[in-house]
Amino acid sequence: MSLEKSAFAVRENAYAPYSNFKVGAAVLSEGGEIYAGCNVENIAYPEGTCAEAGAIAAMVAAGESKLTEVFVVADSKQPVSPCGGCRQKLAEFGASDTKVTLANLDGVRVTMTMAELLPGAFGTDHMDADHQDRD
Ligand code: THU
Repeated sequence: MSLEKSAFAVRENAYAPYSNFKVGAAVLSEGGEIYAGCNVENIAYPEGTCAEAGAIAAMVAAGESKLTEVFVVADSKQPVSPCGGCRQKLAEFGASDTKVTLANLDGVRVTMTMAELLPGAFGTDHMDADHQDRD
């Protein structure tokens, strides 16, 4: 199955009884495998997890830690916009030029790079050892 088809298919399994907003995400790993995830909500609202987090967790659980492409889909007017936390989660395992495609069910999609999705991402360069332990 393609990355896109995987994201559309896993979206069907989303558990979203509180928002009624089902999201599907699929990531292509460096090893060439596709890992998919959907949002899983909870009655204790903050305990819910996003589709992107699920896809990343599946990839890491399978022993991989690099993703090379991402596809996210939801039934939104505009292609779904990943939350800030998910942008940082994707950045952890992708590169600045990693292709991220955002889609809705009407065939509207936008493709951008990870750097465009999360400009100025917090990264290891911000944790330069020279600037540690100043206090
Ligand atoms: N959600 C995702 O799973 N991914 C996104 O990119 C946007 C938001 C979920 C979280 C929550 O279950 C529902 O969509 C509404 O915010």
